[in-house]
Amino acid sequence: MPAASPLPFGRLDGRRALVTGGANGIGAAIVRGFAAAGATVVIADLDAMGAAALAREAGASAVRLDVSDTGQVHEAVATHGPFDILVNNAGIDQHAFFSDTTEQDWAKLIAVNLVSVLACTHAVLPAMQAAGFGRIINIASEAARLGSKGGAVYAAAKGGVISFTKSIARENARYGITANAITPGPIRTPMLEQAVAEGGDKLLRAMTDTTLLRRLGEPEEVAAAALFLASDQAAYITGETLGVSGGMGLGG
Ligand SMILES: NC(=O)c1ccc[n+]([C@@H]2O[C@H](COP(=O)([O-])OP(=O)(O)OC[C@H]3O[C@@H](n4cnc5c(N)ncnc54)[C@H](O)[C@@H]3O)[C@@H](O)[C@H]2O)c1
Repeated sequence: MPAASPLPFGRLDGRRALVTGGANGIGAAIVRGFAAAGATVVIADLDAMGAAALAREAGASAVRLDVSDTGQVHEAVATHGPFDILVNNAGIDQHAFFSDTTEQDWAKLIAVNLVSVLACTHAVLPAMQAAGFGRIINIASEAARLGSKGGAVYAAAKGGVISFTKSIARENARYGITANAITPGPIRTPMLEQAVAEGGDKLLRAMTDTTLLRRLGEPEEVAAAALFLASDQAAYITGETLGVSGGMGLGG
């Protein structure tokens, strides 16, 4: 019987966590939340300056990493691991109708949003399996469940993340490893601000109108879900996809 006491809720004392794309937006909120919950956090991001600044502020450490480069990923995990918790959060978006995209666009979107998740998971799994404990949390997107006008390849990559999460949950339950996905709706981050800069107020209104709660989400609201899934209280949850999207797609 796992030791899941109701209190203290959501503590991560003694856990080592790797958060990809942790320098900004949702990842940064996860870094702050995990560090405040007692975890030792490593931020892995292309944005080395942002990662270093946040590491100083949150009492974490930082490594410059391109998550789409499998060799770099394995080297970083060998140097900074082992990890009890992996949050695959790094991602990029692109706003263009599919017919206007190129094969290079597809390759980049799939490398950063999907292949990175495979690479990071592959790198951390052996130590988690040996330890008999692990928490893998993959930040997908509601676009995976609903499709995305102007984000077809992104949505396809995120759909791959959801099905990969379920397979990893199936293969690794016997090692005490859980794997879950979070699907954010529109969250106020640099990624979304960039999209709004390109698509204007009309896009912003269209995004909030897809939610029942009629507002953007905050990065901390996604971080709260990640903290829960990483905690001992979520020990009996695996293979799930948790929407943090203000009720997106419920026809409001
Ligand atoms: N913001 C939203 O509305 C929203 C909605 C659904 C899903 N998501 C997902 O949430 C995650 C975080 O998004 P965000 O909005 O915080 O984005 P963001 O652009 O604000 O931050 C993403 C971070 O990932 C890093 N990154 C990008 N490419 C990288 C690479 N190749 N290697 C390492 N780091 C890299 C960036 O430097 C940045 O620090 C992404 O996976 C995104 O797809 C976001």
